[in-house]
Amino acid sequence: MLENKKENRYERLYAQFLDLTSVTENPVSRMATMAALLHHKMDYFFWVGFYLLRDGELLVGPYQGPLACQLLKKDTGVCWAGINQGRSIVVPDVHAFPGHIACDSRSNSEIVVPLTDAGNKIIGVLDADSRDFNSFDEIDAGWLEKMCALIYEKPQ
Ligand code: SME
Repeated sequence: MLENKKENRYERLYAQFLDLTSVTENPVSRMATMAALLHHKMDYFFWVGFYLLRDGELLVGPYQGPLACQLLKKDTGVCWAGINQGRSIVVPDVHAFPGHIACDSRSNSEIVVPLTDAGNKIIGVLDADSRDFNSFDEIDAGWLEKMCALIYEKPQ
């Protein structure tokens, strides 16, 4: 997607999500809403959802797209890299990422963004997969980080 078009699309999506967060503070409801928005409004988001830390394991949370792995083997793959490195990870070609976990063989590129709670502790990640190579970049990372920051945001 062209950079300008992508920026404009995210600006509108962010505004819509911000508006929707006024309905409830419940983080699971917000995660589900964010996944649905991205999946239905961004055509390259083949799969999008959350993986959440529970007792040292990374378990699937709200998502949209094909059936995904429920549990990700510890310290392996892109999601665990996002948790362990505490930063967003853009993967232009998943086949070149050591330890990448392929939940669906049609995915070719991916982005992972850490999800933090109200105390700024990492509690999981947002993960998105595309069927195309090179779908995600720093524009996606920036906006998805901003959207993730709304999951635990208190109403103003
Ligand atoms: N590819 C991810 C696993 C989750 S699926 O993409 C939905 C990983 O390597 O952690």
